Amino acid sequence: MKGWLITLEGPEGGGKSTQIALLQEYLKQAGIPCTVVREPGGTAIGDRIRGILLDPLATDMAVRTEILLYAASRAQVVEQVILPALRRGEVVLCDRFVDSSIAYQGFGTPWDREEVREVNRMATGGLRPDRTYLLDVPVEESIRRLQKRGRETDRIEQKGRSYHERVRQGFLHLARREPDRFLVVDARRPIQEVFRVLKGDLEQLISLSREGEA
Ligand code: TMP
Repeated sequence: MKGWLITLEGPEGGGKSTQIALLQEYLKQAGIPCTVVREPGGTAIGDRIRGILLDPLATDMAVRTEILLYAASRAQVVEQVILPALRRGEVVLCDRFVDSSIAYQGFGTPWDREEVREVNRMATGGLRPDRTYLLDVPVEESIRRLQKRGRETDRIEQKGRSYHERVRQGFLHLARREPDRFLVVDARRPIQEVFRVLKGDLEQLISLSREGEA
């Protein structure tokens, strides 16, 4: 049986972790094996790379370094966690993946997007998500939600408003380019409503591909 790689993407404060926890619980109740990972991180090595990437004091990090570190963390989690889980036939719920690098580093910074894609092709061995849920949220709402959390902001969150606007538009651009892979959901909707949409889609995806196998 083949597994499914499902990624959740979007700007900060879109509620990705909440939705992942709900989907994980739903899959558990349904008896469907599932693995959850977050990026950057998801492995011991990746968590250390995450510490460097998000350090609020690392303000002098070169964009090239940033791109490579995100890709390095990804390479580790693909090899160590994602591919083995897919081989076991599990659903892998991934909190951010390559699309985040394209949106944040490729659209947020002036770096050549094709180069970001190329580095990530190398990092993932060309692995692509079966489905991507884009939890879209306008920048003002995103900022409001981050402020409400009341914790110290990390290095990426500290970047300016126009950066985050480019990132959001980058995600929406990616979704328009691949409408069959992306499902865009307005993350301002109530948590349970967003969950119902994602759950319905996931159920359909799994039952369709099981029918194909039968
Ligand atoms: P998180 O807040 O969703 O855990 O993500 C950590 C931060 O890293 C977030 O600001 C988005 C950013 N990020 C990138 O800039 N590029 C990437 O490839 C990934 C995975 C995350």
